[in-house]
Amino acid sequence: MTTNTAMKETDMTGHNMHDRVKAAEDIHINTYKHFDIILERGEGAYLYDVEGKEYLDFMCGYGVTSLGHCSPILQKAIRDQAEKLIICAASYMTEPRIKAAELLVNNCCQDAVFFCNSGTEAVEGALKFARKWAYKTKGPEANEIIYFENAFHGRSMGSASITQKRHTQPYYGPYLEGTKMAKFNDLESVKAVMSDKTAAVIFEPIQGEGGLFPGTKEFFEGLRELCNTYQVAMISDEIQTGMGRLGTVFAHSYFDYEPDIVTLAKGIGGGFPVGAVMAKKHIAQVIEPGDHGTTYGANPLACHVVHTVVSEIIKPEFLNHVKEMSDYLLTRLNEMKDRSNAIKDVRGHGLMIGIDTVYDIKKLMDALLENGLITSQVGKNTLRFIPPLTIGKKEADEALEKLEYVLKEGNL
Ligand SMILES: Cc1ncc(COP(=O)(O)O)c(C=O)c1O
Repeated sequence: MTTNTAMKETDMTGHNMHDRVKAAEDIHINTYKHFDIILERGEGAYLYDVEGKEYLDFMCGYGVTSLGHCSPILQKAIRDQAEKLIICAASYMTEPRIKAAELLVNNCCQDAVFFCNSGTEAVEGALKFARKWAYKTKGPEANEIIYFENAFHGRSMGSASITQKRHTQPYYGPYLEGTKMAKFNDLESVKAVMSDKTAAVIFEPIQGEGGLFPGTKEFFEGLRELCNTYQVAMISDEIQTGMGRLGTVFAHSYFDYEPDIVTLAKGIGGGFPVGAVMAKKHIAQVIEPGDHGTTYGANPLACHVVHTVVSEIIKPEFLNHVKEMSDYLLTRLNEMKDRSNAIKDVRGHGLMIGIDTVYDIKKLMDALLENGLITSQVGKNTLRFIPPLTIGKKEADEALEKLEYVLKEGNL
């Protein structure tokens, strides 16, 4: 085999953004459809492309930039820690790691934490911890995992195996054995698949990627009871809903249930790649050195970021602000719905809001982008607003104005 690097012409400097995006796509594995802009910098709720155009970011890097883009608090945390220690093996404790773990455990019903690097990794860790606990307490047969229709838990093999999308991606099979799908908010469907063989049930408190559908209080209560009866680990995947997104530090506090395991990522790092699994003592105590791990997990840089970001999020005034902004946006969106035939539904909790319109979502998102508003899609045709948790009324009004303008007849 020969290599032909000399033949490749990849330098597109000087070309317009559209051509540069197209050329860049040729040297990427084709996993994302790209918008026609190249981003350069961010500040608060705003992003700027290389041509200087400003965009209000209501997508937030898929719900990540909880404190806004390039938050001075986050920048300082990264700078300060980068000057001291960036990485060491996970078999060494560091001050940032101890402080981050203490902060999380002291503000949650969970007793211990495992740090990793992303959401999907947190889910993998949760599944492994639950399976080992079930193996030890109920035996090797108890390895089944219940997940839900419409769920999204990630893209690595374990998390993909419990994600709805697996059903449209047969080419990645065989998926993980021992998974059973139930219907979200339907306890009877859970009862039909739960047994002594069940190790865990995993769910999102609000199904995010699936279309922004919340679980009900009764459902979570019933699920907790079923998990107690069958000795099943209840895993609350709070990767999108946790860390202040709903106006509470954790999503299970918002819905008032107590899981056995919680997965976290996205907002916990405010833009820095980090994830975490939290577990109750009965689960944590079956895990031994060598059972699980990751090279970059619990690195001091990520842990200092987690400590800094979570310290901001847990402030009562921070969480109150999220609630206020949520009420404001939901009220204004519902008013807009009342005067517009284009909006079919507005739903959401905290700063996680879905809007169904009569328009094709791709066209709508392109038009919003053209008008300087970055949004994202969930489900088949739902527009999602997941802005930074720090947005003010000014940014909310701007987003609403842009949406209303684009939804007016003839503007799309
Ligand atoms: C609920 C939930 N779980 C897991 C994941 C996977 O996280 P990551 O993309 O960091 O692997 C996501 C990502 O959107 C998510 O929303």
